[in-house]
Amino acid sequence: MNTQLEQLKTEILSCQKCELSKTRNHVIFGEGNEHAPIMVIGEAPGADEDRIGRPFIGRSGQLLDKIFAACGFTRNEHIFISNIIRCRPPGNRTPTPQEAEICMPWLTKQIEVIDPKIIILLGATPLKYLAGPTHRITRERGTWLKVQDRLAMPVFHPAALLRNPNLKRDTWEDFKKVVGKYRELVDANHYSAHC
Ligand code: URA
Ligand code: URA
Repeated sequence: MNTQLEQLKTEILSCQKCELSKTRNHVIFGEGNEHAPIMVIGEAPGADEDRIGRPFIGRSGQLLDKIFAACGFTRNEHIFISNIIRCRPPGNRTPTPQEAEICMPWLTKQIEVIDPKIIILLGATPLKYLAGPTHRITRERGTWLKVQDRLAMPVFHPAALLRNPNLKRDTWEDFKKVVGKYRELVDANHYSAHC
């Protein structure tokens, strides 16, 4: 890992800035390529993630990995996955605005250090905290926004797709746009079996 990211990780893993530090089993730093051209940002770790210490390894994560695979993306090569907050909220409730405010500087730094070309926002929570509270996922998914001076694509959270499989068709269209942009900005020859 590059030294800047390693130092950030050391700081994040010992963070006690909010009450979630008292109930967590793991701080979820995030994972993937430290120079990833694409950063994927979720909401908060769930029970599986808290138990193991990695992001998106439960049902949502498995669906996400299938979507990545269809796009020809892997966590190791193309992607770094992170979250708005890094410790599990008890009972998997949505993070409070205070928790998000306290934790977000970690994410801001992580984005600066990794320096991705494209950011994917998974659902309402990252859209709210990275683009602003007036944004709406149902209205803006599939449309490019700017986040920290980078292109950002809001898409439905995989948990929403698991609850309502009819949303998968929209998500597929959104990820096709991401693959197209990836070919434009990063690798014109990027291979994907499905788009
Ligand atoms: N859901 C999220 O938003 N993030 C995770 O890391 C896991 C599930
Ligand atoms: N509501 C959410 O929180 N996320 C989605 O992706 C869709 C609806």
